[in-house]
Amino acid sequence: MSRSRVFLSGPMGSGKSTVARLLGAALGVQTLDLDRRIEEHSGVSVAELFRLRGEIGFRAIEAEVLTALLADPTTEAAVIALGGGTLVPRALRHAVLAAGVVLTLDAAPEVLAQRIGRDAARPLLAGRDPVEALTAICAQRREVYAECDARIDTAERTPEEVVARALAFVGATRVVVPLGARTYGVEIGEGLRTQLPARVAEHARGARVLVTDATVDALWGPETRVSLAHETCALIDVVLPPGERAKTLSSVAEVWDAALGAGIDRDAIVIALGGGVIGDMAGFAASTLLRGVAFAQLPTTLLAMVDSSVGGKTGVNRAEGKNLIGTLYQPRFVLCDVGFLATLPIEERRAGLGEVVKCALLAGERELEALERDAPLLSAGESAATIRAITMAVALKARIVAADEDETRGLRLSLNLGHTLGHALEAESGYTLRHGEAVALGLLAALRVGEGLALTRRELRARVTDLLTTLGLPTDVDARIGPSTLRWVGQDKKRVAGKVRFVVPIAPGDARIVPLGAAELERLCRS
Ligand SMILES: NC(=O)c1ccc[n+]([C@@H]2O[C@H](COP(=O)([O-])OP(=O)(O)OC[C@H]3O[C@@H](n4cnc5c(N)ncnc54)[C@H](O)[C@@H]3O)[C@@H](O)[C@H]2O)c1
Repeated sequence: MSRSRVFLSGPMGSGKSTVARLLGAALGVQTLDLDRRIEEHSGVSVAELFRLRGEIGFRAIEAEVLTALLADPTTEAAVIALGGGTLVPRALRHAVLAAGVVLTLDAAPEVLAQRIGRDAARPLLAGRDPVEALTAICAQRREVYAECDARIDTAERTPEEVVARALAFVGATRVVVPLGARTYGVEIGEGLRTQLPARVAEHARGARVLVTDATVDALWGPETRVSLAHETCALIDVVLPPGERAKTLSSVAEVWDAALGAGIDRDAIVIALGGGVIGDMAGFAASTLLRGVAFAQLPTTLLAMVDSSVGGKTGVNRAEGKNLIGTLYQPRFVLCDVGFLATLPIEERRAGLGEVVKCALLAGERELEALERDAPLLSAGESAATIRAITMAVALKARIVAADEDETRGLRLSLNLGHTLGHALEAESGYTLRHGEAVALGLLAALRVGEGLALTRRELRARVTDLLTTLGLPTDVDARIGPSTLRWVGQDKKRVAGKVRFVVPIAPGDARIVPLGAAELERLCRS
């Protein structure tokens, strides 16, 4: 995503064209106006085009002009004012979100109507009461305008003040998870934890429930507590034992009891400070407390930054298996501060890199090549390379979650790449093998299965083996997978009709789900 390409969206009268000019000047980049481009393309004014083609015809031309603009490298550095309805089509909206920073300018319908006056060139207002028409348009497009990097209310701000606010969002690395009114941003950078008080204040007015584990608490708890201290909002602290063994319903009950005991109401926010274990439990507690209070993620492991803090899966383990009890509940915001990784043991960091390789393989050739280039820096813990890797992984996850949040369309299942055999290896080792190390081995096994099915070229396995080696991850999959490993696969919770839905990597950016029985999988693993 280009951070120097900024799109301004929002209803008519919100100030897009004026702000675009000023913001373009402040950033030192060109300003483009989509309506003017459409007029150049069609040779008539927008109002005339509406009259000749109707709204449907106009939207088709608008989408065509915008798609060409996205593909044009000369617009990589630009502020682009869009039309009020440009981003209504979901696929186009998500393409724009992936291509730059999207800011929605907003104001109450009364303010918009006053600014527009009775402008005859506004086809959607023709013959209608402007306030009524704008109220209806804004209500219809509520989810469209919510899916953005940031919303800026322009009602009581001068254009210069709107630009100052816009500049604060343009500089940051931020990935949007576009889920309509539940849209949220994942910010990635160094030192971002200083933003915690501001983000919490934006999303909740009540008590702050901080959930962490004892290890993270000793390292980062005091600083976080100071930043969360507030004159009127109570701070409730829950420190749980570290590690997977504590991922239980009784740990969640500790969060429930501390929050309810302090008399929280629905304005409260639960903040997870920790790895995936804390994030999953705190999210589960937030989704069930008073039938749901706000939730925020402050991940402190690489695995939590690239995977578990995004996407909304929460849960706890039961004797019957991992993550069998849980909810789907999205956070309000995620702050990935790579500064937290300074205290993370190297083995935990490597485990996170296993998931990063999986994401690059799913994302595409460009992402895989970038990761190969960055691998030496990443294994040395270099911060800019780490930010790039997290951003790539989060962008992939955001795209998949937006398309298949509840895993009903089969897309989200692709994130399971490397996990079927990875989980089996993890379980067989009695969990001495870390999850990310097991995923690394699972990826190589999946590539071999793909070769056995004549879907995957052998060179890809050699390439991934080299990458995993540079990152310090294990690659000795042949020595580790035996008949006893495959017995664990039989317990995979994603089985259907006795077959596992196995994710086969075909090429970078291309994976396919293939149902496989245990005997077939065993044959393919050893072929
Ligand atoms: N919700 C999802 O979508 C999703 C996705 C993947 C994994 N998960 C879950 O995530 C969990 C694994 O997460 P994890 O690997 O982060 O494990 P974790 O939360 O247990 O953290 C690993 C260890 O690192 C310590 N730690 C955390 N941050 C630290 C820091 N900055 N400095 C020093 N020590 C630190 C923790 O105390 C813990 O001992 C599993 O329970 C898995 O099921 C969830």
